[in-house]
Amino acid sequence: MPPRTDNVSRYLRQTKELFGDELYLTIQPQSSSPSLDVDFNSNLSAFEQEICTCQKCPLGQSRNKFVFGVGDPKASLLLVGEAPGATEDEIGEPFVGRAGKLLDKILAAIDRNRQKDVFICNVMKCRPPNNRDPLRTEVDECEPYLLHQIHLIKPKLIVALGRVAGQTLLNVDKSLKSLRNTFHDYHGTPLMVTYHPAALLRNQDLKRPTWEDFKTIKDFLEQNK
Ligand code: URA
Repeated sequence: MPPRTDNVSRYLRQTKELFGDELYLTIQPQSSSPSLDVDFNSNLSAFEQEICTCQKCPLGQSRNKFVFGVGDPKASLLLVGEAPGATEDEIGEPFVGRAGKLLDKILAAIDRNRQKDVFICNVMKCRPPNNRDPLRTEVDECEPYLLHQIHLIKPKLIVALGRVAGQTLLNVDKSLKSLRNTFHDYHGTPLMVTYHPAALLRNQDLKRPTWEDFKTIKDFLEQNK
């Protein structure tokens, strides 16, 4: 994967474009993590309105609908997929196709749903044509939006769904197998990687390890209320 450009400065540039010069920094002296904690006078739906007409990359031209994300604005669990597919692009909501239905069942098994203590979104807010992997240049434009969503939601745990989401967020070229079973750090928030629900539709054998991951997710959230 080509080297990542400076996401923090890109984030600051984009937020300056969106919100102007006023920037509130919350200093957290006890935190040793390099988390970006920038406090804007905004909320999640206002943020969606700010960015939903984005034309920062060519996907702005080819998309049908901008897919911001859905769920509880104060969720402790943030699920992040790769990018909207065809159905999501049509409807404007993430994970609404077959894989999404399976994701809903997985969430029900840990006593949550897309309105209850969960927020679901993607790294990319617009669909790449023919479901190709997003380009690094596209990710570099879009990832600051995810960072700001995280800043507003303040989830206790982020779960990357699938290899591409995991590799993209962690900026590594490792296999999904090697990214699983570890709590990574994403700008100060713990991040786990598990299988994409679409992979479970193709391979039933992945259901068991995915269920193990979601049990770990449930335990983590119970211990970190
Ligand atoms: N796959 C994803 O990664 N995201 C969606 O929203 C739908 C399918």
